[in-house]
Amino acid sequence: MATETLIGSGRDCAPVLTGKIAPWVKRLIADPTAVAKLIDFGNSPVHVLAASEFRRNVAALLSVLQSRQVSGSLFFARKANKLPWFVQLAKEEGIGVDTASHPELQETLALGVAPDKIIVTAVGKSKELVSQAVATGCLLVIDNLDEITLAKAAAQSMGRVARVGLRFSGFRVNQRKIFSRFGLPVDEYRALLSEIGSESGLQLELLHAHLDRYDIEERAYAARQLIEVADCASMDGKKVSSIDLGGGILIRYLEKSEQWTAFQDELMSSVAGKRPTFTYMADGLGLYKVGEEVCGRADLYPAWNDVSKERFIAAILDHRGGGPALHKEISSRDLKLYFEPGRALLDNTGVTLARVTFRKRDTEGNLLIGLGMNRTNLRPFRAEFCVDPILLTATDRPKIDEGAFLVGNLCGEGDVIMRRKLQIGRMPEPGDIFCFVNTAGYLAHHLEVGTHGSPLPVNVLIDEDTLEVCDSFGN
Ligand SMILES: Cc1ncc(COP(=O)(O)O)c(C=O)c1O
Repeated sequence: MATETLIGSGRDCAPVLTGKIAPWVKRLIADPTAVAKLIDFGNSPVHVLAASEFRRNVAALLSVLQSRQVSGSLFFARKANKLPWFVQLAKEEGIGVDTASHPELQETLALGVAPDKIIVTAVGKSKELVSQAVATGCLLVIDNLDEITLAKAAAQSMGRVARVGLRFSGFRVNQRKIFSRFGLPVDEYRALLSEIGSESGLQLELLHAHLDRYDIEERAYAARQLIEVADCASMDGKKVSSIDLGGGILIRYLEKSEQWTAFQDELMSSVAGKRPTFTYMADGLGLYKVGEEVCGRADLYPAWNDVSKERFIAAILDHRGGGPALHKEISSRDLKLYFEPGRALLDNTGVTLARVTFRKRDTEGNLLIGLGMNRTNLRPFRAEFCVDPILLTATDRPKIDEGAFLVGNLCGEGDVIMRRKLQIGRMPEPGDIFCFVNTAGYLAHHLEVGTHGSPLPVNVLIDEDTLEVCDSFGN
């Protein structure tokens, strides 16, 4: 089908994906003066953050443990957002902090978080990181035998006992072994426990698992296998006090399940060639066609799901593997249970505002809306971030049916902010503003780089009542 016949008909647009919007965001986007002030303050793009949803998320997740009489808590996985504000909020809310690098550990300590509230899960721990964790008394989660050697050496050289956890992998679910490159083989736990004898300088406190997929059953089975390890350790006189099931607690980005289903169906149809493509360069977002067959998997976060946050944790704790519910297995042993949520605690805590800089067409006739930002400013781990941005433009702008690609300001053809051709509703003018919702978890700074001499974007913390800036970071 010729491109010209699609333009103007709206048929080349991606199906709509309406984001779930927090009350503070509704108030913000309804107030053009406040939006303009924020973008004038931070320039384009600016990441805007608010605190109340973080506190609400902490309470919601903890309530599941409390309602099932499971003791334990949360460690906020601070890798999901670089800002110190969320570490401070974690401290104020009395939860712990999960650090994934030496700089994160140093900053968390400098922000006054008590070492007994800090866990170190960093991948590839340096000697300096291990030494600081041991010297300060933070809990080190060991991923491999070389880290056991490092931790022993640090403990012995300081004459201290290192608090450690063991990260395991290779859990079995119905005869299937869950793949991971992280952690030590759970099948070899006996040999590993013997590495942590009384002479080792290590004190085993916690057994850890972080699973990559958002699978409730896998987590429940992993927890049961960790409980077996804890039982065995305690028979050997090594009392393990806690189990940690890592992060990966689902959140829900979208308002409506029907939209999510329709989007996935339409993506499949477009890759199959049954409808016009709606993605940049006909990107299948993980799907591709071989002959007449659509192969691969859509590489997308489950943007709509009905088991987000507290429901996800509840489903793990209520899981019955043919016996008592998991929460009973945990509480009857007096074990503590921890989770390390990053994304789930940051749900609804941030938006990103960006200015329109130009409108034009590419050589295929596609409408391009240029934004004062680049793709790394909102970079998902997956092929696409499946939430439509909101155009905050004056209602007198002409209505359009035609879809548009939002493009960035780097000199690369691939600098497209979203790969979907979006229904933006009206033709914006330079200076108009797009609001991207729910960007604080990973999207905003995890993969952001300064380039073309531009500094990294400014982050502003706002007062949710007055919508005024209370603090800023990065300017
Ligand atoms: C060990 C560990 N804990 C916690 C997390 C946080 O995961 P999420 O932000 O999905 O909750 C991660 C993410 O990669 C991780 O690797």
